[in-house]
Amino acid sequence: MEKHEPLVVTSALPYTNDRPHLGHLRSTYLPADVYVRYLRRAGRDVIFICATDEHGTPIALRAEKEKVSPKEIVDRYYPLIRDDYERMGCSFDFFSRTTEKIHYETTQEFFIKLLGNGFIYEQELEQLRCPRCEKYLPDRYVEGQCPYCGFDGARGDSCDSCGRYLRPIDLKGPSCAICGTKPELSTTKHWFFKLTAFQDRLGEWLENNPNIPANVKNYALGWIKEGLKDWCITRDMTWGVPVPVEGADGKVIYVWFDAPIGYISSTKAYFASKGEPDGWKRYWQGNGRAIHFIGKDIIYHHAIFWPAILMGTAEYNLPRSIIAGEYLTLENKKMSKSRGWFIGIDEYLKNFDPDPMRYYLLAVAPLERDADFSVDEFIKRHNDELADVLGNFIHRTLTFIERFFNSRIPKATLSDEDNNLLALVEKTEKEVAEALEAFRFRDALMSIFALSHEGNKYLNNSAPWITIKTDPNKAAATLYASAQVVKALGSLLSPFLPFTSEKIWNVLNIEGSVHKTKWSACKEPMKAGHELGKSTPLFKKVLPADVGQVKANLIPFKDVGPRIKIEDFKKAKIAIGEVVKVEHVKGSRDLLHLEVDLGEFGRKSCVAGIAKYYSPEELLKKKIAVLTNIEPATLFGLKSEVMLLAAESEDTVSLLSPDRAVPPGSNIR
Ligand code: 2FM
Ligand code: ZN
Repeated sequence: MEKHEPLVVTSALPYTNDRPHLGHLRSTYLPADVYVRYLRRAGRDVIFICATDEHGTPIALRAEKEKVSPKEIVDRYYPLIRDDYERMGCSFDFFSRTTEKIHYETTQEFFIKLLGNGFIYEQELEQLRCPRCEKYLPDRYVEGQCPYCGFDGARGDSCDSCGRYLRPIDLKGPSCAICGTKPELSTTKHWFFKLTAFQDRLGEWLENNPNIPANVKNYALGWIKEGLKDWCITRDMTWGVPVPVEGADGKVIYVWFDAPIGYISSTKAYFASKGEPDGWKRYWQGNGRAIHFIGKDIIYHHAIFWPAILMGTAEYNLPRSIIAGEYLTLENKKMSKSRGWFIGIDEYLKNFDPDPMRYYLLAVAPLERDADFSVDEFIKRHNDELADVLGNFIHRTLTFIERFFNSRIPKATLSDEDNNLLALVEKTEKEVAEALEAFRFRDALMSIFALSHEGNKYLNNSAPWITIKTDPNKAAATLYASAQVVKALGSLLSPFLPFTSEKIWNVLNIEGSVHKTKWSACKEPMKAGHELGKSTPLFKKVLPADVGQVKANLIPFKDVGPRIKIEDFKKAKIAIGEVVKVEHVKGSRDLLHLEVDLGEFGRKSCVAGIAKYYSPEELLKKKIAVLTNIEPATLFGLKSEVMLLAAESEDTVSLLSPDRAVPPGSNIR
């Protein structure tokens, strides 16, 4: 990176209808924060900008369902989202909103500029319209079946099952998401962005930009190879930035057009708040450059749409880089807001300080790889690495100095061994800086932990608690060198563990905030005679007896629902049956027709949707649990008299079988 470039670092603007969870933090906000914290201390001209993304159909739709205005929803979530991130230590210089006046003005300026430059054109379009609600149904206002995978809950902008982008008119059997009515087709005017005009330039920009990481580059180039399509950038609704041309009443600009412009309008808002209305230009024009941190699901919008918009205006610089963090799973299962399987930042912070999670999320895997959050692993790393290695080394060093040298850095003559340890500080500083410049966050953090490991080993081997009696000069040298490593750790960790670093700085009794010192502070030794504060342990270990409680507090275990009485359960008659005949049901991909021998209950016919998971051969002679007193049903003209019992997981189904030999008809109680 050019060291003189003013940099604006951004994190993707969160939608304003939900609080953030650990997945968002890991992919987007935490790496951006670490990067900015480092750059600030390295003396770079950098600002960290974010905002809430307040438009779009999900917010409008939710408002409609809750019978409140969209503004009420975003006003409720804006402070919660901003504060959740800030409480985790994200040090935005400014956190704006896309409902600010300056954002509307900037978005409309972009629109008019692109229109003038010939990159926006009008076109008549068939749209869905609800006759009952008397309005057009953009994006998620329509639900129906996905034309690609057949999923029934697809929405007018995408299918949650196969992940494809959709248009409302693509859906089969569409219905209005508000009232369920079948929509009608109606023709109306819309505005399109000529994305096709940028196909070649985007390709060249992606190919020749060494600062764009492989995961972003390859994904975006894949789309370019497939061929870009022009992009409809207006919607028939009232929540959004009004389309600034005549004849566009009742239409707003599409949220994905206005959102990235939020990066610029929020920079403007920041400088306006400082009384420097032109200050934003330094970061977006001249030699200013942007670095966008995003989640991998929005690479398309940032590596294709956004640079094309910028190219089309010819007024702003293209991003220097786009860093896309991969996903975080929770206990090896995909996090899902709708299924309730996630840990909110707020829930986490009710139980722990921010730094242990920052540590875990950065240490567990490189950003360009998926990572898993597991409570056991989190506790293990917290106890073993933060408490036992880092915390212990620091606390022991400082308490020895307190006891043996009256809390003052001892005067010392250093041996080769002591000097080697101090040389390691210099080496680590370089490694960390290099890794951070290259967005290798995990490598940077691991280098620092290697230093604390070495410090710990050195302290154990040098045993100042013994040498203080046998060779006090050696004890002085050991504790002098160890204390300098403590200072180095405090300094180097500041981008990663900002709260812990500040605590270290305080206990070292160094004036001011560590975050305001130069990056090179780790190489400036504390002088002999410098007085230290009183040390207390930095991390409190989670005791084995408390692990269960921590799990219960963090993991979103499902409620089992209302309790039933044993008499109710007894009404269900379940028995073991042996499968004696199996065949596919004609005309169905999913169904098998089975005959099950239930001993004294006779042979029963059963139609079950398990053809995807079991072949007839696998099932034949298998003993399985069967609900025998279910009301019979008829499927595909076949009678189904009993029901098979099976365990279901995200991607498979497993029939329940007895694990010892029991005859058909054995009851299950
Ligand atoms: O995917 C999202 O959550 C969007 N709100 C991100 C917008 S990023 C940018 F373009 F503003
Ligand atoms: Zn309707």
